[in-house]
Amino acid sequence: MAIETIKWMKGQVRIIDQRKLPRQLKYIHCKDIRTLWKAIRTLSVRGAPALGVAAAFGVLLGMKSFKGEDRKRFEKQLKSVCDYMATSRPTAVNLFNALHEMKAVVSAHPRASVGELKKALEQKAGEIFATDQRVCRQIGKHGSELIKDRYSVLTVCNAGALATVDYGTALGVLYSAQKDGKRFKVFSCETRPLLQGARLTTWELLREKIDTILICDNMAATLMKQGKIDLVIAGADRIAMNGDTANKIGTYGLAVLAYHHHIPFYIAAPVSTFDRNIQSGAAIPIEERKPNEVTELLGRRTAPSQVKVYNPAFDVTDHQLITAIITEIGIIFPPFEQNIRKKFQMQGY
Ligand code: MRU
Repeated sequence: MAIETIKWMKGQVRIIDQRKLPRQLKYIHCKDIRTLWKAIRTLSVRGAPALGVAAAFGVLLGMKSFKGEDRKRFEKQLKSVCDYMATSRPTAVNLFNALHEMKAVVSAHPRASVGELKKALEQKAGEIFATDQRVCRQIGKHGSELIKDRYSVLTVCNAGALATVDYGTALGVLYSAQKDGKRFKVFSCETRPLLQGARLTTWELLREKIDTILICDNMAATLMKQGKIDLVIAGADRIAMNGDTANKIGTYGLAVLAYHHHIPFYIAAPVSTFDRNIQSGAAIPIEERKPNEVTELLGRRTAPSQVKVYNPAFDVTDHQLITAIITEIGIIFPPFEQNIRKKFQMQGY
């Protein structure tokens, strides 16, 4: 898969500008932390695992300018750089987990010089990048067994190569199933308001020659009633320890519909998307975005400018509605409260 969502290039972070897709494949070269922060906030780079990698590289940009040998000052700047990156977007826990890993580099090297710390940070960011690549493949391998030949699969938002630095989570499962020789079709919900499904998921799937059908979000119920969907699969931005899952707004609705129509509903996500500090979905912070994303469609006004708007970017799917969670350490089935912890313990997490 030749999609390079994020690349560290000699002191710069090159990202695909996802706001321009599918019309243009253009890159943004972030030479400083502010440019990258803005790219995250405006969704030029997005998707939970990609946000983790972007945050780690953002820290490198923020520390690039540090001069001198004063370790205390270095630690102070590292903290403020991480605090700044943490303000970019609130829901995807991968971003915070990556920042936590970057900060932990300092305590892991108590006697290192500033130069050595800089190198260790670069190495850690590289590890976060490489882990995401490996993890996508493992999620794909585990999830492929759930996709049967001639299935019709429904997905939402974009949990593919553009949301990671490899071939994705939910879409990774599909790419892996395709490699395993299965033929299937994918219905992609367009995913209002910012159309990640219409713009990004269909773009990716078509490049991989997967039979792809775009639908408006409000068509999913009818397709399910017509028996046209065998399985729903989505990514995640944050998973509580009881399995409650935050993902793009609209995911919860699909889960309720799938439950009503007796269709399996899967979440595909890496361990880095679990929040061990959160016991249920009620504690997951949900990003609210600007009204113009709802009153406009691709820059054109579709509603009176003075209308009041509510624009939550994510919703939380109750764990009772989730058939299983596909991770790099295997597929976790209910009861999630016990099985998530058990699986983590068994794998030494
Ligand atoms: O607002 P976005 O585009 O960052 O939302 C992304 C999603 O909701 C994805 O489904 C999720 O991050 C999983 S990506 C593998």
